[in-house]
Amino acid sequence: MEDRFLKACRREPVDRAPIWIMRQAGRYLPEYRELRERFDFLTVCKTPELAVEASLQPLRRFRLDAAIVFSDIMVPLEAMGCAMTFDPGPRLARPLQSRADVERLRTPSMEEAVPYVGQALVLLRRELAGRTPVIGFCGAPFTLAAYLCGGDGREGFGAVRTLLHRDPATLALLLEKLGEAMADYLAFQIRSGAQAVQVFDSWAGLLSPGDFDGLVLPVVRRLIARVKEAHPAAPVIYFAPAAGHQLESAVGSGADVLGVCWRTPLDRARRITGGLVALQGNLDPHALLGPPDQVRARAREVLAAAGGTPGHIMNLGHGILPETPIESVQVLIDTVEGSGAAGAGALALARGRGGGE
Ligand code: CP3
Repeated sequence: MEDRFLKACRREPVDRAPIWIMRQAGRYLPEYRELRERFDFLTVCKTPELAVEASLQPLRRFRLDAAIVFSDIMVPLEAMGCAMTFDPGPRLARPLQSRADVERLRTPSMEEAVPYVGQALVLLRRELAGRTPVIGFCGAPFTLAAYLCGGDGREGFGAVRTLLHRDPATLALLLEKLGEAMADYLAFQIRSGAQAVQVFDSWAGLLSPGDFDGLVLPVVRRLIARVKEAHPAAPVIYFAPAAGHQLESAVGSGADVLGVCWRTPLDRARRITGGLVALQGNLDPHALLGPPDQVRARAREVLAAAGGTPGHIMNLGHGILPETPIESVQVLIDTVEGSGAAGAGALALARGRGGGE
């Protein structure tokens, strides 16, 4: 079924849960590491042929139900005038420090600023010839702001969280500018061929429910509304890991699908979200470091918690780890493929209710 992924995004019935893997193009693949020996990371992102090669690498190995364009959430910011390097995560040359810095941030047309992302999407669609749908993506405003203000996850992004309390109006201005730019960016990606888009809010889970509802969610909602206005048919996925405490609010983001990390079991996520959205996730990426039997068992637990209802997209609860064995990915995909009509009995067993058929 070619459009299993897009159907599941719309909560339409499918033969089995579709599967794709966050960061499926990346360092766990020897052929990606080989590509990176020849070209640096930003060169791969900015050269459509290389970006397409990286996007296709996981699809040559595995029967995945979606491709994702190869780029990074930081690529459009670089084009907005924020110089950075990757080591391996983004490091800003000059983090934003004042209101004047935020006011100076350029918001060019994304079509002109990052034409190579559009070209990569056009090429990727051509290569896949309708066989596999293509996902575009961007970073959510708060997560981008966290990097722009300096620091990283290891120290908990103190700078952006300090700004939130010392000068919330400046943070609000920054989020608004980023929200507008990212809406333009996603619309450009959809025009170029992306059939669904994911908004990565990797660090929103750092915030209290009040700050999430008051500051982050309204900007995400406007971002998604702008994309939907231009392209009502393209499903939007909103993914905020470690944000179970924000899941109920996130239903109001306007996204068709919410990504869920492994900290919130999918049956609980389903209850919280009331079946109003599709859910994506949520195998712990570390589970893929265990032996094959364990990978199989943990994958079945996730499928069982999803309950076999329409509107589940199998994925990890965050990006795949660079040290993941290739064999684990194959076991995961085989397990999902065996979970359709024929595999229903096994799933019921994993759910602990007996075979049932
Ligand atoms: O298949 C894919 O998903 C590839 C496209 C992709 C990359 N980054 C390539 C990449 C996507 C969708 C991203 C999203 C991204 N980038 C996020 C959101 C997802 C998440 O993991 O929370 C974030 C927070 C970033 C910022 C970023 N870029 C980090 C933290 C790092 C380094 C560490 C890491 O997690 O890999 C990067 C660099 C990066 N982006 C790499 C890749 C393949 C590794 C760079 C290299 O090749 O050396």
